[in-house]
Amino acid sequence: MATTQAPPPAPAPLDLKNIQGDILSGLPKKTQLYVFFDITDVARFRKDLNKFIPLVKTVAGVLEDRKAIDDHKKKKLPGLLTLSGVNISFSHQGFVKLGIDDTGLAAGGAQDPFVVGQKKDAITNLGDPANKDGTLPDWDPAFLKDIHGVFLISGDSILTLEKKKLEIALIFGVGTPQTSIKEIITIRGDVRPGDESGHEHFGFLDGISNPTIKGFDTVINPGPKPVDAGVLLTGHTGDPALDIRPDFRPDWATDGSFLSFRYLFQEVPEFNDFLTKNPLAKDGNGKALKPEEGSELLGARMVGRWKSGAPIDVAPFKDDPALAADPKRNNDFEFAGEINSQLRCPFAAHVRKTNPRDDLEVPPPPRAPIDIDSRRIMRRGVQFGPELTAKEKQEGKTLHDRGLLFACYQSSLTNGFQFIQQSWANTKTFPPFETQPEDPGLDPIIGQGVREMSGLDPLNEQKLLTMPAFVVPRGGEYFFSPSIKGLKST
Ligand code: HEM
Repeated sequence: MATTQAPPPAPAPLDLKNIQGDILSGLPKKTQLYVFFDITDVARFRKDLNKFIPLVKTVAGVLEDRKAIDDHKKKKLPGLLTLSGVNISFSHQGFVKLGIDDTGLAAGGAQDPFVVGQKKDAITNLGDPANKDGTLPDWDPAFLKDIHGVFLISGDSILTLEKKKLEIALIFGVGTPQTSIKEIITIRGDVRPGDESGHEHFGFLDGISNPTIKGFDTVINPGPKPVDAGVLLTGHTGDPALDIRPDFRPDWATDGSFLSFRYLFQEVPEFNDFLTKNPLAKDGNGKALKPEEGSELLGARMVGRWKSGAPIDVAPFKDDPALAADPKRNNDFEFAGEINSQLRCPFAAHVRKTNPRDDLEVPPPPRAPIDIDSRRIMRRGVQFGPELTAKEKQEGKTLHDRGLLFACYQSSLTNGFQFIQQSWANTKTFPPFETQPEDPGLDPIIGQGVREMSGLDPLNEQKLLTMPAFVVPRGGEYFFSPSIKGLKST
């Protein structure tokens, strides 16, 4: 008699009014401020925080805002819709200052990146260039201080952000002798002019492939399968800490998430100059390319997507804007791990290094499938700095600071951001295939170390390409974004 297997239990519904909005939904944005602060008066801060909590935009709040934005567009309502949202996160140093025991929060104990802090982790594990005496990363001095927390303020205009910042400043008494916080640095990021869809400064469409979440996302397009909510949220099924010890997380930690913030400068004229000077001569079918086509193909192979966002694994040698614009197709691919797949997408390509999809499941060599779900991260972030000037284009040299305020959420930094940067992007032997003629090399976008990559030329005529770093880290920190209940118990 055939046995029928019971279907897996449905995931518990998420408390959308308890989870900070940026984690699962992304605060709607045209412009954003990251306001980094220190706590100067603990007793006063606790009182002020209670007054601040009603301002925090939860996932439920974001969903309402998104509906309002849609209605406004569909009904072509006159005037501007003014929307803003605020989230708050704390570093380990912030919890120490508040006298909160966060030992149950970071699964890795004293070694956990959250407890160690990003300045030390940057030197020890992330590969960031060091300053002169080699003890600290070569960062903006503001990020070398101890940062206790960060407000993320998001909105539709600079005026909206400034008003919100003022509202927060009034709550925390900023500018008065009674203030409970001190601002360390505020950085503004903006969606690039006229670019609602979101291209980063090298010109590639970003924010396409984020994980879909069981029990939350209602639209599931073909592509990587949905992950358990616990990959992003602490205290839920899929949270790696719970696999180690089911009673690990303290109650106040449920529905929170770890935030990795990175202040990444992009050297855009140098990047463009490199592509112009190293055009690929032929496509994978041996067809000779014009120089501009060869440069475009090299850029696409470094990222793993064309500037339009079309994945090169599906459209290997020619951009396909219709594919890029179709959410049902633009993330629907697997690499299938075999050597020939380099013809379509190099092992070193940024999207393959940071999300190898089925590369770790498929032989050769024979190996047990490795589940990469717990390595998925929810990427947020926004661009900062001006568009390229005519002088920069002409000289091929960066004259103004610009880049990405990179932010990502996960329930474990050891599994998520830190692992992706250290063990995948910076590791030349990853992904491991014994049949490969040479190591894949570093991630051409974010890999730190000796920057050599193979497979960028589809015909493998130019075996190994060495290139300077076009992304330079200038700061960052690890934070925890507690739930509303967690904030109330702070
Ligand atoms: C995807 C650019 C930093 C992890 C992408 C994409 C672009 C891009 C254009 C393709 C669009 C998409 O799939 O959403 C950049 C630039 C960076 C940067 C210009 C620095 C200035 C990082 C960092 C990490 C990271 C620091 C993590 C350590 C990822 C991941 C994906 C991705 C996980 C999705 C891959 C997939 O699922 O297919 N990035 N990125 N990126 N990036 Fe980055």
